[in-house]
Amino acid sequence: MKKGTILLLCAGLGYITILGMIFSCTTTSRMDITTGKQLVRGADFVGKQTCAMCHSHIVEKFKHTVHSRHQFPVNDNQDLDLICEGCHGAGSLHLEVGGGRDANIVDPEETPTPCFQCHQNIQARFLQRYSHPLRLGKVSCTDCHSPHGKDIFLSSGTLVGGSSPVCRQCHREKVAPHVFEHEARREGCTSCHNPHGTINDKMLVQRDNNLCLRCHGQITSAGSINMGDFSHTSRLAEGVCWSSGCHTAVHGSNINPHLRY
Ligand code: HEC
Ligand code: HEC
Ligand code: HEC
Ligand code: HEC
Ligand code: HEC
Ligand code: HEC
Ligand code: HEC
Repeated sequence: MKKGTILLLCAGLGYITILGMIFSCTTTSRMDITTGKQLVRGADFVGKQTCAMCHSHIVEKFKHTVHSRHQFPVNDNQDLDLICEGCHGAGSLHLEVGGGRDANIVDPEETPTPCFQCHQNIQARFLQRYSHPLRLGKVSCTDCHSPHGKDIFLSSGTLVGGSSPVCRQCHREKVAPHVFEHEARREGCTSCHNPHGTINDKMLVQRDNNLCLRCHGQITSAGSINMGDFSHTSRLAEGVCWSSGCHTAVHGSNINPHLRY
């Protein structure tokens, strides 16, 4: 995988090659997407207006996306808006053959390389020990993100909140209704899982009881830790809430209101 390198010019700071900086100076940044060019070897940039000649509906729709809200690279000499080619690679050779499928243009649904040019922090997540199997090609960014859509997060309009609808596509059993739901799910699956990857088993955002203590637990005046109506002071010492035989039905239960089974 090519290491993406983008030069960006932040007002007053000069050229900086650290990609992460994009996020700290987005409003004033200008970029030279040299890697966008390398995505299609030998091609040159043509700019968004040229793409609009044949893909006007996408260009129109794209106006409302998070990516178009940021001032994206403009070629120094030619004043071209390079945003489309940031994700698809330089377009001149695609034009030369009159466009078409598999015609000298990158489809980011097949490879995350274009996205990683700018989102290196996400790339790092997918390299963690526990992550969605992106590198095996079983999952792609576009299963969960809509690059041209109004909302880049494929998640709105929901019963159980947050990002659950997007997860439901592939994890039906986890989002299926239970007699006793764990209300944590109202905040979405991502309150406990990082969908890009973590160092913890099952992509959990925390590996131990702290996962649950973020929302549960009151310290009484007597100094004991209560959860629900029960003291958990000694229980907490016995092990992890969900894996030591206690709340094994962490997503919800059909038989026990305390999510025991
Ligand atoms: C943030 C990255 C990104 C940007 C920016 C982007 N695209 Fe895309 N584009 C994608 C992805 C991912 C796909 C494949 C999945 C899909 O169709 O939603 C795609 C698919 C396409 C397709 C094929 C559609 C189809 O029906 O198969 C066209 C054409 C296209 N993009 C044109 C453009 C144009 C024109 C622009 C600039 C206005 C643009 N894209 C900007 C990521 C991007
Ligand atoms: C001369 C017309 C023309 C221009 C200009 C053009 N395209 Fe295309 N492009 C096409 C046609 C035709 C297809 C096939 C679309 C289809 O079958 O629906 C296509 C397909 C694509 C696809 C899908 C590729 C795939 O393998 O599925 C992408 C992505 C794309 N174009 C991006 C761009 C971008 C980005 C630009 C500007 C740099 C651009 N196109 C400029 C005509 C053009
Ligand atoms: C040319 C650089 C660039 C490329 C290529 C790129 N992005 Fe982005 N992306 C950005 C910037 C800049 C933002 C805005 C970040 C912000 O506002 O914090 C952004 C925002 C996002 C967001 C929303 C973040 C938020 O907090 O709202 C998502 C999701 C995203 N990109 C996914 C993708 C995917 C998927 C691809 C590949 C198909 C991609 N990006 C390609 C630069 C890029
Ligand atoms: C399994 C689903 C899934 C996949 C696959 C996925 N994402 Fe995400 N992504 C999400 C969800 C859900 C969020 C919102 C996280 C939250 O609400 O805390 C998110 C947030 C983001 C953000 C903004 C917040 C952040 O963490 O910086 C960016 C940027 C992003 N994704 C880029 C990508 C890119 C690039 C890819 C492909 C390499 C990708 N994502 C693949 C589900 C996914
Ligand atoms: C496109 C399908 C797809 C989508 C969408 C998806 N996943 Fe996954 N998920 C997978 C695959 C494939 C695996 C790997 C399963 C395996 O290795 O058995 C996986 C694994 C997981 C695992 C680890 C399972 C284990 O046994 O280690 C968790 C947790 C997970 N996904 C949570 C989520 C969450 C949360 C979302 C929504 C943000 C989501 N997934 C969206 C396909 C998907
Ligand atoms: C309150 C925290 C929490 C929330 C919210 C949550 N999970 Fe989990 N999830 C866990 C824990 C803890 C495990 C590990 C269970 C184990 O190892 O027995 C897990 C395991 C998983 C697994 C691995 C398979 C399995 O059964 O062990 C998948 C897939 C998964 N969760 C998907 C989801 C999806 C999809 C959502 C949203 C509907 C979601 N989770 C919401 C805590 C949560
Ligand atoms: C995002 C916040 C959040 C997280 C994280 C969370 N919960 Fe919950 N949980 C709730 C809410 C809200 C309720 C319903 C109100 C209540 O009973 O406190 C609930 C209810 C419960 C119940 C049923 C209450 C009862 O009377 O028995 C159990 C059991 C439970 N959670 C266990 C866990 C475990 C185990 C974890 C860690 C894997 C966890 N929770 C993580 C928010 C959360």
